[in-house]
Amino acid sequence: MKEFLSAIDIGSSLTRVVVGRLAEESLEVVGVGAVPSRGVRGGVVVNIENVVQSIADAAREAELMSGMMVQDAYVNVSGKHLHGENSRGVVAITNRERVVTENDVYRVIEGAQYVRIPADQEILHVLAREFSVDDQTGIKDPIGMTGVRLEGEVHIVMAAKTALTNLNKAVNGAGIRMVDGIMSSLASAESSLSAGEKDLGTVVVDMGGGVCDIAVYLEGGLFFSSVVPLGGIHVTQDLSIGLKLPVEQAEIVKKTMGCARASLVDPTDKVELPAVSGRPPRWVLVKDIAAIIEPRMTEIFEFIDEQLVRSGKKNALAGGVVLTGGASLLDGTVSLAEEILGLNATVASPAQVGGFSDRVDSPEYATSVGLLRFAARIGDEGGAQQQIENEGGLISRLKNWFQENL
Ligand SMILES: Nc1ncnc2c1ncn2[C@@H]1O[C@H](COP(=O)(O)OP(=O)(O)OP(=O)(O)O)[C@@H](O)[C@H]1O
Ligand SMILES: [Mg+2]
Repeated sequence: MKEFLSAIDIGSSLTRVVVGRLAEESLEVVGVGAVPSRGVRGGVVVNIENVVQSIADAAREAELMSGMMVQDAYVNVSGKHLHGENSRGVVAITNRERVVTENDVYRVIEGAQYVRIPADQEILHVLAREFSVDDQTGIKDPIGMTGVRLEGEVHIVMAAKTALTNLNKAVNGAGIRMVDGIMSSLASAESSLSAGEKDLGTVVVDMGGGVCDIAVYLEGGLFFSSVVPLGGIHVTQDLSIGLKLPVEQAEIVKKTMGCARASLVDPTDKVELPAVSGRPPRWVLVKDIAAIIEPRMTEIFEFIDEQLVRSGKKNALAGGVVLTGGASLLDGTVSLAEEILGLNATVASPAQVGGFSDRVDSPEYATSVGLLRFAARIGDEGGAQQQIENEGGLISRLKNWFQENL
């Protein structure tokens, strides 16, 4: 395992580079860079040259702060093209003692991967959820158990080949090797959900500028993943139109006096909007600003709810919803989420990092810090996909995966 790890979170609003140091069991943040993204829409690279520039700028900031060169990095993968699916594999336990070995686990996970993959997609992750040995179900680590039949359930994440190729090109263009791509919601869950929450049944929703990344955890494992292509940028656009303000000023208004629920705002409160193109400053009711924001935020949570219903496990989410991402910082968001989703909601910042922890102590850094944590766990030789391809290396790391994750 390398001492230093880097993560690049290519978001629709901001590109972030975080350099971490692995010290014993803890993760220290030693460098952070964040610049406005250009060339990213809906979580996907749409202009490689622009993204190269954003990555290079953010990496330079992180390098100056850490004194380390960012040579290779784990990179987030987001966008509507992501597709999650559950699958299962079954194998016979063939050795004479009928004891489950690492190799049996490897075979069962490999078998579970044989799902129909559209020609334009490839497998990004194969994540073990739980195993059964004969009639005993709900097993996290079956190695060493006795039986004749091993079943494994996995969550498979597929991504569009073109989206991955473009990410790779953008990262390479900035002179950095993309070690692996990791689904954004998986990374955010890694930094924001506790093991207890994953066991209990909890959904993490990373509310970004262009998308909301959703990951449902049940009994310790990832059960459902999805992406809703709406985020804070759409709220700002609505304000820009509704208040007749340039986008930059609408963004400031949203962050400083915006609220997702008009009913939470004092109906007499007024604010002065800045002068725009020769027009004098205006006074508006804060309630009227919230009245522009609320329908869009409501729409976003209705789309999220639709996905939770689609998962079939909405009623099993005793741990409620954990919100991360910059858009979760909007006042009134927790209250609106609880109302529309009918679940307890909280906002989480990445937990338990050392070093420059104050620089990443915000839900906006859930994905970047999660990328580092995930990277630290799967090792520096590659991600889930390579693990499956590389039989020898897979087994020991797969074992780590159960012990630390499940
Ligand atoms: N204090 C705040 N109040 C309201 N909104 C905020 C606040 N801070 C940030 N935001 C919003 O959060 C959004 C950006 O969030 P984030 O940085 O998590 O997105 P991203 O990762 O760049 O994009 P995505 O994940 O959607 O591709 C922007 O729309 C921004 O307006
Ligand atoms: Mg994001």
